[in-house]
Amino acid sequence: MSTSLATVSYIGATILFILSLGGLSNQETSRRGNLYGMIGMALAVLATVFGPQVSSAGYGWIIGAMLVGGSIGLYAARTVQMTQMPELVALMHSMVGLAAMLVGYATFIDPQASAGFTGAAKAIHEMEIYIGVFIGAVTFSGSIIAFGKLSGRIGGSPLLLPGRHWMNLTGLLVVIWFGRAFLNAHSIEEAMVPIAVMTVVALLFGIHMVMAIGGADMPVVVSMLNSYSGWAAAATGFMLSNDLLIVVGALVGSSGAILSYIMCNAMNRSFISVIAGGFGTTSVAKKPAGDAAQPAGEVTPVNATETAELLREAKNVVIVPGYGMAVAQAQHTVFEITKYLREKGVNVRFGIHPVAGRMPGHMNVLLAEAKVPYDIVFEMDELNADFPDTDVAMVIGANDIVNPAAQDDPGSPIAGMPVLEVWKAKTSIVMKRSMASGYAGVDNPLFYKDNNRMLFGDAKKMLDEVLTALKA
Ligand code: TAP
Repeated sequence: MSTSLATVSYIGATILFILSLGGLSNQETSRRGNLYGMIGMALAVLATVFGPQVSSAGYGWIIGAMLVGGSIGLYAARTVQMTQMPELVALMHSMVGLAAMLVGYATFIDPQASAGFTGAAKAIHEMEIYIGVFIGAVTFSGSIIAFGKLSGRIGGSPLLLPGRHWMNLTGLLVVIWFGRAFLNAHSIEEAMVPIAVMTVVALLFGIHMVMAIGGADMPVVVSMLNSYSGWAAAATGFMLSNDLLIVVGALVGSSGAILSYIMCNAMNRSFISVIAGGFGTTSVAKKPAGDAAQPAGEVTPVNATETAELLREAKNVVIVPGYGMAVAQAQHTVFEITKYLREKGVNVRFGIHPVAGRMPGHMNVLLAEAKVPYDIVFEMDELNADFPDTDVAMVIGANDIVNPAAQDDPGSPIAGMPVLEVWKAKTSIVMKRSMASGYAGVDNPLFYKDNNRMLFGDAKKMLDEVLTALKA
């Protein structure tokens, strides 16, 4: 393939990626957005493989690598549970980081890749390698820890080492110091020590940064690492002089940064403190979770028949899904109940918290899968004022996102986080298996409110019973 044809293909792929991102911003157009992304990626891969930078001698290696990578990807996509998606995404981010690191080292060691660079161009090329390896290492180790936390292999509570901000600052100074030594080195052997020290510091920094983040703030980490993986890809693009990778990396990096900003707003955290890596811990530090006011009182359990009765008598129902709905895979039964109630003239709407579940848009994906109409799915801000006029607020496997302690208890670890005010409805029904706390590990005073009812059990099983009772 000629250079000009490869360039045109890259421009085409870039346009498709932009259209893809545009499409993914809305539920109605997200399928189309995915399709654009897939065509764009196919075009990008073909233009790269058959482009001027690859000789036919390399085809065997590339096909072998694509077969191995493609098989692993296909296997993971077919077997992964919806609830495991966030950890899979974290693992994939770590791969982008690892790739940036390895490409950095390979580019540095390969005399051919550095040939032709002299003077200022050589310094810029080496700086690209140094920064690329740094971003890649932080993304790699940070994403591995995020994977551990999201999959429950590592505990959710923040690791607060004494003087941790000073440690981070010292790490940064060490990286800058060795960066100078790296640029001034006269040979590859001489430069190996500075880049290796920086890599170790960057790996430790990534681990420390994510370990210091408390459970309730993980959504911000997920989107932040998404952004980092984009910058790592862009850095790889600089190292390989690949324009498409630079553009795509910048697109992912900036869209991840915008998502982080949206998540920060949703969690009521400051963006600057997120960038600095010291977030999600201030309120915990002020007052440990155990010291926060413990909810007390009696809970009022109901059964499926009583729940069906409450729903049948209601005119306005708001359903608030959470992580438990994903675990139970209850979305299809939720849709059946919604359909039944709507046919009976009940106004049923869904209230979605920006951090419900374990990944951005988690609930929207599940509801779309179950074919819930988009026009009855609302964001928290669009619906929160309507709870006083709601007869039944049905909370399905959600906990932190409906916790009134976020508003009432300044000592709570989730203090200040906006929540869905379900307790303002005439009756709220919380569907979960036990009195256990949610991801943030905080007790929920909602369960003890006079107008709240608890429907204990697996969400899918209980909703099946509610549907049967409704139809009876
Ligand atoms: P959580 O606060 O985690 O609460 C989910 C509840 O579902 C649990 O209390 C659990 O109680 C219940 N549950 C689990 N399995 C169930 C089943 N089979 N049937 C019925 N109930 C079940 O979830 P949420 O309200 O959606 O809030 C999300 C939390 O995750 C927030 O703290 C958020 O910060 C965090 N987080 C979000 C993200 C993103 S990007 N969305 C990423 C990482 C972390 P039982 O055990 O008693 O059943």
